[in-house]
Amino acid sequence: YFLGIDLGTSSVKILAINDNNEILGDTTKEYPVYFPQDKWAQQDPIDWWEQTVLAIKELIHNLSIPRNEVGAIGFSGQMHGLVALDGDNKVLTPAILWCDQRTKKECDEITDFFSQDKLSQLTGNKALTGFTAPKILWVKKNMPEVFAKIKHILLPKDYIRLMLTGDYATDMSDASGMLMLDVKNRQWAKEMLDFLEIKEEQLPKLYESYEVTGVVTESVKAELGLEGEILVVGGAGDQAAGAIGTGTVEEGIVSVTLGTSGVVFASHEAYAVDERNRLHSFCHANGKYHSMGVMLSAANCLKWWADLVQPNVDLETLLEEAAATEIGSKSLIFLPYLMGERTPYSDPDAKGSFVGMTATTTRGHMTRALLEGVAFGLYDSLKILEMLEVPIKQVRVIGGGAKSSLWKQILADVFSSEIQEINTNQGGALGAAILAAVGAQRYVTVEEGCQAMIKVVNKISPINKNVEKYKDIHTLYVELYGHLKEWF
Ligand code: XUL
Repeated sequence: YFLGIDLGTSSVKILAINDNNEILGDTTKEYPVYFPQDKWAQQDPIDWWEQTVLAIKELIHNLSIPRNEVGAIGFSGQMHGLVALDGDNKVLTPAILWCDQRTKKECDEITDFFSQDKLSQLTGNKALTGFTAPKILWVKKNMPEVFAKIKHILLPKDYIRLMLTGDYATDMSDASGMLMLDVKNRQWAKEMLDFLEIKEEQLPKLYESYEVTGVVTESVKAELGLEGEILVVGGAGDQAAGAIGTGTVEEGIVSVTLGTSGVVFASHEAYAVDERNRLHSFCHANGKYHSMGVMLSAANCLKWWADLVQPNVDLETLLEEAAATEIGSKSLIFLPYLMGERTPYSDPDAKGSFVGMTATTTRGHMTRALLEGVAFGLYDSLKILEMLEVPIKQVRVIGGGAKSSLWKQILADVFSSEIQEINTNQGGALGAAILAAVGAQRYVTVEEGCQAMIKVVNKISPINKNVEKYKDIHTLYVELYGHLKEWF
């Protein structure tokens, strides 16, 4: 048996697969996020550990997994968070999460110090408030007594690894989101460490996602009721692990997540970075690279709209009304920037907007414009991939929004590409379990694991006449943001 631990922001999910390429089941346990001040988002790493232990025990019990038959454990982790420990592994300050926005000043300071060109050469990315390096700088400036005591810096999932195995280790994909990794050369970026006044000994040892970083200690096995050697592999950041869980491991495959936020994720062989760093350029969990565009509000736009118009109408009716209207929603355009936008604009001030209503605009037009606007936002990331000459041959959609067949058809038409549905929506937890199985040599490569577990079950082709229309509307959509930007 192989376990995947998906340490998310609201909960931890543990999933088990077996030697026969079967997904056996999963358990989820929740924990709180604390918002002690405006723009702050924190968690207690002890909560993560306690809930992980409970979830593992429950899963083992529910699935009647024999005590000595867990072969390996892998991770998928919420990325970018800062866990700071002293010499006794005591948590010095609550973990500062990926969605914490307190570090705008520190991002500017980093960019001013290095220049964007140099920063891109050094790390492949730009300084974003979510990333780890600005958080370290913030602690250094605002909590000098904590900074002075930091012996170990870890990412969230790597704290769980430490508790399981006693090892300080991370993987290349998650480390990529720290702004401290030389992504191209898969090693720590020394100049960034020097700037932050951090020594390499304070950082975890780097591994590939499928490599074994250690084994579960005797005392933890006793606590979990397990026996025998249990390997622990590097695991991956949640986006890279999620991509393993959709089989996005070969050049030409792109995965699109229509979750609360939206992600366009492409796997590629060689390191590639777009000149304006609009996409994140990270190491992938299969030992190669990936590029990723992140849209802050995707399926969340539909949820927002459905909540607003309820209780008069349910989601299904809304989508039926949208399907009954014509493409282009009678020249109504929706900008999906309800929470600002990361890709392509990095503009926290961008706003959601409906533009072009008339007296004949219906609720159906508004719902359709919203689905189209989100598809255009995702297409903006896809276009940057095209500019990077990343081949796009297959697009796989997952996430809550992928339940709507109308939305999937709109995506196929806007992207001018076939959309594929796969046999599982387990994402990161499945990716983590596959990485564990590779570490235990059940599969020789990550690609082999993906081929065994993930199948395409449906394909949606673009409708040619819609493709042409959407090209024109997308141009207007992009222009509209340009006109409204200053006003936002
Ligand atoms: C990736 C990102 C999110 C977080 C939280 O850049 O910010 O995927 O890892 O899930």
